[in-house]
Amino acid sequence: MSPKPKTAYQCESCGHRAPKWLGQCPECGEWNTLVEVVTSGGDRRLGVTAATSEQFALPEPITEVESDNERRFASGISELDRVLGGGFVSGSSVLVGGEPGIGKSTLLLQALGAIAASKTDREMLLVSAEESKPQIRQRAERVTTLSSGLVLYCSTDADSIAAQIVSRRPDLVVIDSIQTIFTSQLGGAPGTVGQVRECAALITRAAREAGGCAVLVGHVTKEGTLAGPRTLEHMVDVVLSFEGDRRHGLRALRAEKNRFGPTGEVGLFEMGPDGLVGVDDPSARLTAGRPETRAGSVVAAVVEGHRPLLVELQALVSRESGGPARRVSIGADPQRVALIVAVLDQRAGIDLSGRDLYVAVSGGVRVDDPGADLPLALAIASAALDLPIDISVAAWGELGLAGEVRATPYARQRHGEALRLGFDRCLAPPFESGEAERDEGRSVAPNAAGRIPVSSISEALAAAGVVF
Ligand code: TYD
Ligand code: MG
Repeated sequence: MSPKPKTAYQCESCGHRAPKWLGQCPECGEWNTLVEVVTSGGDRRLGVTAATSEQFALPEPITEVESDNERRFASGISELDRVLGGGFVSGSSVLVGGEPGIGKSTLLLQALGAIAASKTDREMLLVSAEESKPQIRQRAERVTTLSSGLVLYCSTDADSIAAQIVSRRPDLVVIDSIQTIFTSQLGGAPGTVGQVRECAALITRAAREAGGCAVLVGHVTKEGTLAGPRTLEHMVDVVLSFEGDRRHGLRALRAEKNRFGPTGEVGLFEMGPDGLVGVDDPSARLTAGRPETRAGSVVAAVVEGHRPLLVELQALVSRESGGPARRVSIGADPQRVALIVAVLDQRAGIDLSGRDLYVAVSGGVRVDDPGADLPLALAIASAALDLPIDISVAAWGELGLAGEVRATPYARQRHGEALRLGFDRCLAPPFESGEAERDEGRSVAPNAAGRIPVSSISEALAAAGVVF
């Protein structure tokens, strides 16, 4: 039995340490920044062998170092592997955040089941602090293949979980969730910042020593305020966020941070009766079912990660109400919407003051791409003036404050995706010299078919028929 470790409370802002918890840091004056930390005495080494620590510590020629790709293994779930950059990396740690009920447990159970079925030599470990073994088995029967390579362990004690990881040496261990386990080395309740951080450190270190990959599940509220996951982002190698509207079947898995692959990569899933299924043709799915003509609706050719994606953007503008104008935006960044409203007012004479504005992206998807600026502006203008835009129109382009339409990367891919789905009038930034080279690293003439270059918001509105 290791001696009880000493703990203290450390300010997250300035690093000041106090023996007791205080609401305000006496050093920097910040409120609610003191978090319990282990200062000494704990058995933090988990039986690291001299060999493993030496391997990490000694200088080595770069040619002798094993690259991460060699230590990568795919889950076989293509949308998940795409977001991870090809699969899980041994010795790394992944945080999967998302609202309760979004499908985190289901996704990871499917991944573990698929790997366990294909990889029989080593084991996959699912640690649940939220569900019982029979519950998990019942779900697994529906959503994945059962194989003995998947081992279930139900525990809330981080220290015994770490010990199991070190002794069983699983290829992949999933902790569901990091907020519901705790270590007795600290006094705080599970889910507090100190506990979450200490448990995450314990588990990721154990997995790294065991040569496996640790996946931590973290619940995040809509505002992202819950103490846990946000504070872990810098401690892990990969941060994935699973999002979408729970009422919609469609879910997007996004790489917020990835030390082993591109960030911003998005995987799309649909939740069905047999678990999550990758969406084969997301653009078709997100633009399906549009009525013939309707004011306030435009298809945007955006790029999420490296993938071109068509989404329908919708806007609704109320009549002048006299009260303060409401601005509601679902799936689009409210700051960008505010900027677009200002550009429409100043550069195109479309005044929304005193009128409520609602903006939504189809399918509950979130769009981060600045290439959505121009289609958003068109949708808002179309709604404000009650002038529908032809159903065959798609658009992309970033808007500058002067009302200019700016080029965004991946023009060829955006255009190709629009044409593939029959959007043969594309309002887009003017052709740039070198556009093709930048996109694909080789010289290909941009395809002019159906592409309508517009250099300003007023030109774009005229080309879309939104003129007053
Ligand atoms: P879950 O993976 O438990 O979410 P999380 O771990 O993020 O809290 O899944 C939550 C929802 O998904 C739950 O409300 C039920 C639904 N669901 C299905 O619709 N089909 C299925 O096959 C499964 C397993 C879950
Ligand atoms: Mg869950």
